[in-house]
Amino acid sequence: MTTGRELEDSIELSRLLPAADLEDLVGAIGRAVGCEIAVFDRQGQRVAGSEAAGAPCRELSHDGERVGNLAATGTRAEDALELVGEAMGLLLHHAHARELAAMTHEQAMRHTFAELTEHNQRLSRAVARLEELDRLKSNFLATMSHELRTPLTSVIGYAEMMAEGLAGPISPEQKEYLTTILGKADQLLGLITAVLDVATLESGQLAMERSALSLADLVASEIATFAPQASRRGIAIQLEARCETTVFGDRRKIRQIVSSLLSNAVKFTPDRGHIGIAVRPGPLTPHGPHGPHNGEHGEAVQLVVTDSGIGISRDQVAKIFEPFFQVDSSSTRAFGGTGLGLTLAKAYVEAHGGRIWVDTTPGQGSTFVATFPASPAEPA
Ligand SMILES: Nc1ncnc2c1ncn2[C@@H]1O[C@H](COP(=O)(O)OP(=O)(O)O)[C@@H](O)[C@H]1O
Ligand SMILES: [Mg+2]
Repeated sequence: MTTGRELEDSIELSRLLPAADLEDLVGAIGRAVGCEIAVFDRQGQRVAGSEAAGAPCRELSHDGERVGNLAATGTRAEDALELVGEAMGLLLHHAHARELAAMTHEQAMRHTFAELTEHNQRLSRAVARLEELDRLKSNFLATMSHELRTPLTSVIGYAEMMAEGLAGPISPEQKEYLTTILGKADQLLGLITAVLDVATLESGQLAMERSALSLADLVASEIATFAPQASRRGIAIQLEARCETTVFGDRRKIRQIVSSLLSNAVKFTPDRGHIGIAVRPGPLTPHGPHGPHNGEHGEAVQLVVTDSGIGISRDQVAKIFEPFFQVDSSSTRAFGGTGLGLTLAKAYVEAHGGRIWVDTTPGQGSTFVATFPASPAEPA
């Protein structure tokens, strides 16, 4: 590649004007004027023209620099040299201008490229820094959650012992207070556990244990947990479980998925509403194939939680699986929670190779569907 330096050092005749062009030029002029003409470069090498032409006798220059020599023999040698000199001067001028333009363009490109490279390096450094911060944040959350849980477990343990009368008899009023303490402590423990789970998730260290378990049994036991709270508000929970509902998965995580969906259904359904839960075979994805093979022997086991609650508007529905997102985030909001339940549910479902989605109409209710591959599967 030509560099600016070389170009400044010397204007090379052979580089600027191809030998074939020179041959054509001196040939044509020679024939017109009736002379033998020859062109030599600066080093004295003949680059074009007649072998028969004599010794170099006229300088060829460009921008005040000698670039070669011309020779001519014949009666009109002077005229021939004049003509060749002028014609070559013009050609050199254009060629040189072209080369300068190309060089300027090349330098501009190099400059832009250098700037882009530097910009990219700055970006890479920023990304690396962000990743580092993200890791630190996740580690911090994991450590903090652990440190918060340990003392809380003691608070719960001692309060339970007191409530059971292990430290001596307690009055009904003391018992009531202890029940409140235990309830709040449990709530706090749930919150810390959720934060810890999200931190684990974000650090990419989600560990899975797998065993064959009955999804229907698991759902039944979760319904038993939520039934008292629901029936106090006149909400009926109906379970419909058809077929074999064996899932190969992590019991604790699947229990959490069921509990998340069920607690949301109870929370977001007004008094005297209705909740239905079905465990049934079906397609793995929302738009999966419905056919004879997906009837009794589905490719997946579906967990379907339907409520007659407040529903979710179209523009919010895409966000509900994001960490900490809650449709009503005002400080006066009516419903508790952290906005982590669905985030964890989604991550856990996907870790099992399944999917989760929702079908909802504001004011009418929602249907959440979580699916689990019918046979052991690798995570999606
Ligand atoms: N069954 C439901 N009906 C209406 N809205 C729901 C339902 N489930 C979830 N949502 C909306 O999605 C948000 C996120 O849910 P989730 O991650 O479980 O957080 P949380 O329950 O702690 O608020 C909720 O705050 C609520 O706005
Ligand atoms: Mg929730």
